[in-house]
Amino acid sequence: MPAHPPKRSRLTQRWPVLRRLFGKGTPAKAGHDASAQLIRDYFRHKANGQGYTLSHSQLRVIDCMAQQASLLFDETAPTPPSLYLHGSVGRGKSWLLDGFFQALPITQKRRLHFHEFFAQLHQGMFSHREQDDALAMTLNELLLDCRVLCFDEFHVHDIGDAMLITRLFKALFQRRILLLVTSNYPPEGLLPNPLYHARFKPVIELINSRMQVMEVGGPHDYRSQMRNHAHQVFTQGRYVWPATPAQREALNLPTEDAPAISLTVGTRPIRARFCEDRRVGFTFADLCEQPTAVMDYLQLCRRFDHWIIDGLPELGGCSIAAQQRLINLIDVLYDQDKHLTLLGRLPLSESLAGQVIDLARTRSRLGQLQEEHSTG
Ligand SMILES: Nc1ncnc2c1ncn2[C@@H]1O[C@H](COP(=O)(O)OP(=O)(O)OP(=O)(O)O)[C@@H](O)[C@H]1O
Ligand SMILES: [Mg+2]
Repeated sequence: MPAHPPKRSRLTQRWPVLRRLFGKGTPAKAGHDASAQLIRDYFRHKANGQGYTLSHSQLRVIDCMAQQASLLFDETAPTPPSLYLHGSVGRGKSWLLDGFFQALPITQKRRLHFHEFFAQLHQGMFSHREQDDALAMTLNELLLDCRVLCFDEFHVHDIGDAMLITRLFKALFQRRILLLVTSNYPPEGLLPNPLYHARFKPVIELINSRMQVMEVGGPHDYRSQMRNHAHQVFTQGRYVWPATPAQREALNLPTEDAPAISLTVGTRPIRARFCEDRRVGFTFADLCEQPTAVMDYLQLCRRFDHWIIDGLPELGGCSIAAQQRLINLIDVLYDQDKHLTLLGRLPLSESLAGQVIDLARTRSRLGQLQEEHSTG
C-alpha cells in the first residue's frame, strides 16, 4: 500500500539514540519519556523552521500525541486511545497529522488520504468478494503489520460507504491499531444527510468511546495568510479568468472547440482535451458532469503532474453530484500537490459560491492558486 514516505529529518535520525534508551538496563519509563519528548521536539523545530506560532489547540494536540507515542512504546500499557481531530478548514489539522506521522520513529505506520484508502478498500473487497470475510482479507493486504494509521480528511456522505466504515472502524480497533483521523466534522456532524444520519449513530458512538475527540480551532484559516505561502502546497497553480483567447494561447491550450480525446483509465474511457508527457487537460464537464470517481482521479494522478481544467462554471448551478466530484477531485490534487491550472469565466469566489458544506474546503484550497485576470 502506498504510504507517504516519511521525510528524513534530524529528529528521525535520532531514532538510534532512542532505541538505545529502550535497551536493556534502561528503566522503561526513560524510553517512554524520550519518545514523548521526540514528538514535542519535532513539532517545536518544525514550527520554528516555518515561523509558525502554534495555536492553543495545536499545542494541546501535540501534548496528546506525545502521550500517545509514549504509550505506544510501553509494552505493558494498553493501546493508547485513537485520536479524532476536527475543525474548520485551514486550522492546521493535517499539519499535525503529518508531523506526528513523520516524527514517529517506527516503520509500521501508514499515512493516507481517506479517499485513497477507501478506494483501495473497495477494490480489495471486490477482488475478495468470494471469500467469507472479504474485509479481513483486504485489511491483511492493505495494512500488513501497521500499528499506526493516519487518515487525512475523513468525511462520509454516502450511506453505502457508512456501512463499510462501521465495519472498518470495528476491525481497526479489534486489531489494536492506533488510528488518527482529521475531519472538518465533529463526530456528531458526520453523514449530515438527515435521511441517513440515524443509521450512522453506531459509528459515532464507536468514535466517541474509542477515540479522543479534539477540536483544532482558532479564528483563522492559515491558508489565507500570505506570509505562509512559502510553506504551503498548491501555490504554484493558477486560476485564469475569464479565459480569453489570448490567455488560452499564452497557456498553450487548444481552442475551446478542439475535438476531445479519450484516455483509458482502468478499463473505462474518460474524455479529455489533450495529454502530453505528464500534462493533461480536461474540461470541468469531462471530469465532473460524467460519472467519474475518486479512483479515476487517483489513477490519473499517477500519470500526470500538471492538470489543466477548463470551463469552471458557476458551481451553485450544477448538480450536487457534479459539485461533490469537484470537491473530491480538488482534495486529491491538493493532497498530492499537483500543479493545477484552472480556467473559468468568473472570479473564483463567484464561481465557487455554492451551498454544499464541503465546498468551504475547496474554496480554501483553490484560494492558494494565483488568480490571473485579463480584461483584454
Ligand atoms: N500555526 C500555524 N501558523 C501558520 N500556518 C500554519 C499553522 N499550522 C498550520 N499552518 C499551515 O496552514 C496551512 C493549512 O494547514 P492544514 O492543511 O494543516 O489545515 P487543515 O486544518 O488540515 O485544513 P482542511 O480542513 O482544509 O484540510 C498549511 O500550509 C500549514 O502548513
Ligand atoms: Mg487537512
